[in-house]
Amino acid sequence: MTERTFSIIKPDATRRNITGKVNAVIEGAGLRIVAQRRIHMTRAQAERFYEVHKERPFFGELVDFMISAPVVVQVLQGPNAVAKYREVMGATNPAQAAEGTIRKLYAESVGENSVHGSDSEENAKLEIAQFFSETDIVG
Ligand code: CMP
Repeated sequence: MTERTFSIIKPDATRRNITGKVNAVIEGAGLRIVAQRRIHMTRAQAERFYEVHKERPFFGELVDFMISAPVVVQVLQGPNAVAKYREVMGATNPAQAAEGTIRKLYAESVGENSVHGSDSEENAKLEIAQFFSETDIVG
């Protein structure tokens, strides 16, 4: 079933100028980038985005990292896009990520792991709505 998921290319990747390399892996896996914008997140945006993690010990570090440089927010579309993109990203910890995944190829650590992808279709809808309006998305 055609689905949409939300993706962020994180500051460690924009800093290294490898957003094109990340997009090549996304497109190579058959996912279509149907909306994309480069932004510098405010602290309020990052805190809202990661609100589910606010009690975690790494929350402060995570927010500081996400606002440390620009990010690229994206909407990806394709068959089973949520699960497909999680497969393409690889495990959160790059040391555990499978060969050929974005995090195996490019991530630097569990915190600075190059990309974010939604973990469910429900969250995908909420995350997309935080950064895009329906008219920004051209499928
Ligand atoms: P993400 O998919 O963006 O969602 C939550 C993020 O928290 C996760 O990717 C990691 O980048 C980050 N994270 C998870 N565990 C840790 C950790 N132990 N230390 C720092 N950041 C973490």
